[in-house]
Amino acid sequence: MRTLLLATALVALTGLAVASPTPTDKESLSKRALVPVTVSGNAFWQGSTRFYIRGIDYQPGGSSLGLDPLADPKVCMRDIAKFKQLGINTIRVYMVDNSKTHDVCMGALADAGIYVVVDANNPGYSLHRFLPGPSYNAQYLQSVFATVDDFAKYTNTLAFFSGNEVINDNVSSTVSAKYVKAVTRDMRQYLAVRKLRKIPVGYSAADVAVNRMEQALYFNCGSDDERSDFFAFNDYSWCNTDLKTSQWDQKVKNFTNYGLPIFLSEYGCTANGRDFGEVQALMSRDMTGVYSGGLMYEYTNEENNFGIVQLENPATSTDVKELEGFAKFAHALATYPAPTGDGGASASTHSVACPPKGPHWDVEDTQLPPIPEGADRFFKDGAGIGPGLQGPGSQNAGNQPPIQAPPSSGNQVTDTPAATTSKNAAGETFGGLIEKGPFLMAAWVGVVTIAGTLLL
Ligand SMILES: *[C@@H]1O[C@H](CO)[C@@H](O)[C@H](O)[C@H]1NC(C)=O
Ligand SMILES: *[C@@H]1O[C@H](CO)[C@@H](O)[C@H](O)[C@H]1NC(C)=O
Repeated sequence: MRTLLLATALVALTGLAVASPTPTDKESLSKRALVPVTVSGNAFWQGSTRFYIRGIDYQPGGSSLGLDPLADPKVCMRDIAKFKQLGINTIRVYMVDNSKTHDVCMGALADAGIYVVVDANNPGYSLHRFLPGPSYNAQYLQSVFATVDDFAKYTNTLAFFSGNEVINDNVSSTVSAKYVKAVTRDMRQYLAVRKLRKIPVGYSAADVAVNRMEQALYFNCGSDDERSDFFAFNDYSWCNTDLKTSQWDQKVKNFTNYGLPIFLSEYGCTANGRDFGEVQALMSRDMTGVYSGGLMYEYTNEENNFGIVQLENPATSTDVKELEGFAKFAHALATYPAPTGDGGASASTHSVACPPKGPHWDVEDTQLPPIPEGADRFFKDGAGIGPGLQGPGSQNAGNQPPIQAPPSSGNQVTDTPAATTSKNAAGETFGGLIEKGPFLMAAWVGVVTIAGTLLL
């Protein structure tokens, strides 16, 4: 089966193959399966072995290029060779084209022992951070669920991000928290109702100090059907220092007893040179009781200069030039392997109290919006083929749904008529990458009481 897939990839590389779809070979996929990663207590597990994310963020060409690197075997095969050299076990992909197959790339990643964290949103199909109501609609969820359908069949899909940096440091954006939480609820419910594998679903928070704690608490409060399976955040505060200087020791303390797995969805400050001491810290007993590793930002070098390889053309180059960071990152991974044993993980998982409204957190009550009109049918019929990355977009496609739904409303599956369609494609506030580092020095204000009373 390996040979078959390899042949497919080689044909693709020589440009003779049809670009898509690649024939699905169910048997070959299942033979190449990795042990699915599950959540138990506050950690990830690969069977009975604790699993740490030792990974990299993978977005060739940045968010503006709009490339799905896992839909093009030429692209992924080129880079998987490098991933193997690095010794990573996970990649994160920021946008995938849910109208295309990912069999070849996911199979090749499985062969390399690499798991994938998939962002379920993309610029055209995402929530609007300031006006989330209308952007939470059936067209949007169809795209999200189509991505879930597509990736749920791969055993090496590690997790889904239900949102990426939707909430930022502007308190006005915290109105979107309810909607992100509703999407998380919907995705988890979709997996359950459609009898798909229980892939962990959670949110990836921006590196924003003023409301990081509130976000973490909010996504893990309330009824079980509304809580996330994990929490992830971006952190650019290490900057070649140590646990104390970077205050990572505080971030361990603050998240102790959080009740869910936590990992860094982006790390890799460049401000002060870069030796990737983060890997040592993340793999040390100082952190493993609370954190499950992280993803280094990032693989390809883009305008913001965080990459460790240079590609002339992310979509077509076959030549990958290693930058200084490549060997350094590989060295850090080799020097600091994942610890054995349970790393001090907690066996229990639990919810926390919801954060109170405050100067940086404008979320009053804990009720979530109900599933938008027209989206119920996906639970019954499946989502069908996704709109891909070139579809009309969904942000302006819906009417504002009523804001209140009783707790546990995510459990109902009823049949309602389809929502009206709209041609408007806004896509203007995709919760995409923000500038790296501007929040580094921001003080943690306003969270003292919350962290102190709820987490200790
Ligand atoms: C926050 O966002 C709102 C809505 O877009 C905007 O009017 C306001 O100027 C922003 N505030 C800051 C401090 O950026
Ligand atoms: C941790 O929480 C304390 C309050 O308990 C807060 O003062 C501090 O800023 C937080 N530190 C970090 C680095 O998150």
